Amino acid sequence: MRIVVVGGGPAGLLFSILMKRADASHDVTVLERNKADDTFGFGVVFSDAALDSIADVDKPVHDAITKSFFHWDDIHIHFKGDVLKSTGHGFSGLSRQVLLNILQRRAGEMGVRQVFQADVGDLAPYRDADLILAADGANSTIRAKYADAFKPTIDWRPNRFVWLGTTFPFTAFTFYFKENEHGLWRVHAYRYDREHSTFIVETTESAWRKAGLENASEDATIAFCEKLFAKELAGHRLLKNRSLWRSFPIIRCGAWRHGNIALAGDSAHTAHFSIGSGTKLAMEDAIALRDALLENRDVSAALEAYEKVRKPQVESYQRAAQVSLQWFEDTERYAGLEPIQFGFSLLTRSLRVSHENLRKRDPAYVASIDRWFAKKDPAPPPLFTPYKLRGLELENRVVVSPMCQYSAEDGTPDDWHLVHLGSRAMGGAGLVFTEMTDVSREGRISPGCTGMYKPEHAAAWRRIVDFVHARSRAKIGLQLAHAGRKASTRLAWEGMDEPLADGNWPIVSASPIPWFPHSQVPREMTRADMDKVRDDFARAARMGEECGFDILELHFAHGYLLSSFITPLSNTRKDAYGGSLENRMRFPLEVFDAVRAAWPDAKPISVRISATDWVPEGIGPADAVEVARMLKSHGCDIIDVSAGQTVPHSKPVYGRQFQTPFAERIRIEAGIPTMTVGNISSYADVNSILAAGRADLCVLARAHLWNPYWTRHAARELGHPLPWPDPYSSLDRYTPRFT
Ligand SMILES: Cc1cc2nc3c(=O)[nH]c(=O)nc-3n(C[C@H](O)[C@H](O)[C@H](O)COP(=O)(O)OP(=O)(O)OC[C@H]3O[C@@H](n4cnc5c(N)ncnc54)[C@H](O)[C@@H]3O)c2cc1C
Ligand SMILES: Cc1cc2nc3c(=O)[nH]c(=O)nc-3n(C[C@H](O)[C@H](O)[C@H](O)COP(=O)(O)O)c2cc1C
Repeated sequence: MRIVVVGGGPAGLLFSILMKRADASHDVTVLERNKADDTFGFGVVFSDAALDSIADVDKPVHDAITKSFFHWDDIHIHFKGDVLKSTGHGFSGLSRQVLLNILQRRAGEMGVRQVFQADVGDLAPYRDADLILAADGANSTIRAKYADAFKPTIDWRPNRFVWLGTTFPFTAFTFYFKENEHGLWRVHAYRYDREHSTFIVETTESAWRKAGLENASEDATIAFCEKLFAKELAGHRLLKNRSLWRSFPIIRCGAWRHGNIALAGDSAHTAHFSIGSGTKLAMEDAIALRDALLENRDVSAALEAYEKVRKPQVESYQRAAQVSLQWFEDTERYAGLEPIQFGFSLLTRSLRVSHENLRKRDPAYVASIDRWFAKKDPAPPPLFTPYKLRGLELENRVVVSPMCQYSAEDGTPDDWHLVHLGSRAMGGAGLVFTEMTDVSREGRISPGCTGMYKPEHAAAWRRIVDFVHARSRAKIGLQLAHAGRKASTRLAWEGMDEPLADGNWPIVSASPIPWFPHSQVPREMTRADMDKVRDDFARAARMGEECGFDILELHFAHGYLLSSFITPLSNTRKDAYGGSLENRMRFPLEVFDAVRAAWPDAKPISVRISATDWVPEGIGPADAVEVARMLKSHGCDIIDVSAGQTVPHSKPVYGRQFQTPFAERIRIEAGIPTMTVGNISSYADVNSILAAGRADLCVLARAHLWNPYWTRHAARELGHPLPWPDPYSSLDRYTPRFT
């Protein structure tokens, strides 16, 4: 096979070595525009796992790397005069120059032809090669030339950073956070050989401009950073090597192959330096491409397999890198956290490291976090730390999310609801919410929805509340709502949000905009309608109190009536209830006030909101902070932060804990407790969210449908078993086995 590799960086060189290893008869040429010993950057980072994968494919390269690297286990975080230390992380740093020399030498031994100072602008001379690998880095000429095929996108991030070196011998991966008159400066520093460390300085664009670094030369940058970090550098110098301030480009490609050309490394993708090195990803690409070529004799099939396997892996890594880089873009937001929580938030930022991983790596560190969180010693895991809101005391931080059952008759809950809610309360959650329960018959989503508008409803709910209180340690909350323009629709499994086949009732909303084009057109609410809905909510709250509910939640989310006022996408009113956010919040706040007045002072009220419409013209996370501030000023105790479902054409970005960043932002910026919901599935996630201060309570919906005993099972795994109800006490001596 004739292989031409454009670019002699880590991706191109390792791939060449591996192909020659696979078959010495392959004719492999690497074309590199620099000289053999030209390089930029300082140290590259490998995790222990990344080094193991290199050992698997080429022992000599692995051994040469391990002879030259500097290994560390610890991470030190310097913040507000404190140093947080965590161990067990297992990383190595290596000079990029040394790495390239190792790879070049090994490529030479294996018979790879290496041509230096060969700047490839045109692929025509290599068209007869069986395979062309475009490993020509982030500014890839080949990717640009065939942009129509590769479909690259480049997202330039707002922060500024500069790669510097230093002679300071860091003993750990070190983060500094230092404030001066211009803003907050972040440093990511790690040692890569006996005498040298990488020292990356990062800050916001605004601090960078205020510091006058816009046109700074390398020497001016060094002078500025040496002065700012004089204490930390303790007399050591900073070193330059093409050390210009940059913005980070997140590069993604729609396709990684075009004919016999493949992309690998930075030409195909980048991932922010705060999550690990691009070098590791580039070398993993080389290994994946080699594997695909070994498994598929035909180049076209191999490139297809390479893209199919490797692209999703890299995209998943890029998603984690995105969260990580955003943490560094938003560090100012976390600056008010106590140092111990700031450090935990930093370590768990990408969701790849959880409370549980850290517990295994560094139990002493996690024990100190747990003690700080629970304010007691010994401390339970954060999940089992009690929580208090007004007079409500929850035994733990797990909440069963409201979930419509579409199983009621004219609003009356029945045995299904008793068993559904009762079993989840027995399952150990601290708080169980009823499904969305409507304040009027016409405010129901469907004919199967529960209500709180007839005396029979109060009696039926009281039976459920009494069961939960008598037979479990859980508290129970009532979610109150009016479905607005999403009312008069079918049971979920017969067509979500679809109008009823017959028997539709008239519906109201902020504005006369139907949900789907074929949905019923709601009537724009008049003031008289508003008075009625407000009074219905207050009456339902009073009925809820008679039933003994412990907390109320008002539904201001998901496109239902009050949400339809908040989002401009469904509120085009010209009166005092439309226009600005303040106006759009006017009616929802009237409802809130009426409910607050009707509900006992000792009991809390939560409000569920959609923190974003997932539509550019709709509301976004910054508006959600404003909404939360307004609610807080009216006496709301906690915000249940959901997202979307406000218009049918929204484009949500799903993923693990995908709504948690909104809860975190509201909690910190509006200074109000939050509940987070959405794709939270493991107890490790819950402990991480709580300890990092991303929310005060974790709300799980489908996880509880799957497993009503979720909290009890988490308790057992965490070594913090909950007492079983007496009839189940034989379980104290039972060892569960499932497979
Ligand atoms: C300024 C800077 C400093 C960095 N420092 C570090 C660091 O300290 N640690 C770290 O882990 N990562 C660092 N990175 C990121 C890291 O270099 C990359 O993620 C990693 O090297 C990717 O490997 P690669 O083989 O895909 O590309 P590269 O290492 O970029 O290699 C691409 C090669 O292609 C060559 N090339 C480009 N165009 C042509 C052409 N038309 N013809 C011939 N040859 C061509 C280039 O000269 C280069 O040698 C740095 C990046 C930048 C921009
Ligand atoms: C069957 C079902 C019914 C739901 N009903 C409601 C509801 O009545 N009120 C509400 O606010 N959210 C409702 N939701 C949304 C959930 O409360 C929750 O926000 C969502 O499922 C995301 O959480 P999860 O990823 O843990 O499932 C429902 C979800 C499901 C799966």
